[in-house]
Amino acid sequence: MKQIAASQAYRLLEPGPVVLVTTQCEGVANVMTMGFHMMIQHAPPLIGCVIGPWDHSYEALSETGECVIAIPTLDLAEAVVDIGNCSGDQVDKFQRFGLTKRPGKAVSAPLIVDCLANIECRVADRTLVDTYNLFILEAKEIWIDEDRTETRTIHHRGNGSFIVDGAMLNLSDQMAKWRHLP
Ligand SMILES: Cc1cc2nc3c(=O)[nH]c(=O)nc-3n(C[C@H](O)[C@H](O)[C@H](O)COP(=O)(O)O)c2cc1C
Repeated sequence: MKQIAASQAYRLLEPGPVVLVTTQCEGVANVMTMGFHMMIQHAPPLIGCVIGPWDHSYEALSETGECVIAIPTLDLAEAVVDIGNCSGDQVDKFQRFGLTKRPGKAVSAPLIVDCLANIECRVADRTLVDTYNLFILEAKEIWIDEDRTETRTIHHRGNGSFIVDGAMLNLSDQMAKWRHLP
């Protein structure tokens, strides 16, 4: 996996793919599915994530302040739904779904080798957790698998229905006001 600048997080998340979130607490790794996320700031790169107390991951994230946002592609769609329908307090999801872990650089939560990209994150602000279960994360390191043949991300429309990443429309010539962005 190739490392790219953390400032590039928005290029991966602004389109709103469904993602996997890994945590590691007391030596035990876990993973959940997340659709409710958004970019909040370019620099430092901040990401808002809704992770509820009904998720085992909530405790791990609250306790460690660290996670990895991994971006799966179409080939993992069925596993993505199943990962979001069982809990790490009852099952080792890495084992059950045949996911391969790799240590990151900045956080203890593992990267998922089977994903297109992995964003290592630390909790930057917890002030909205009590009200909205909204963790503000700062992206620290990003890893991309440039050798994948399948690169289509999946985008949740609710109730297990997804839009698959498709044609690209490039209007970068019109982005004159925003040339300074990384
Ligand atoms: C497509 C999909 C999207 C989901 N999005 C979220 C989300 O944004 N936030 C959340 O807290 N749970 C979300 N979930 C539910 C969690 O993934 C689910 O509660 C999971 O079992 C939590 O795993 P854990 O208990 O091991 O942490 C989603 C599930 C699916 C299938």
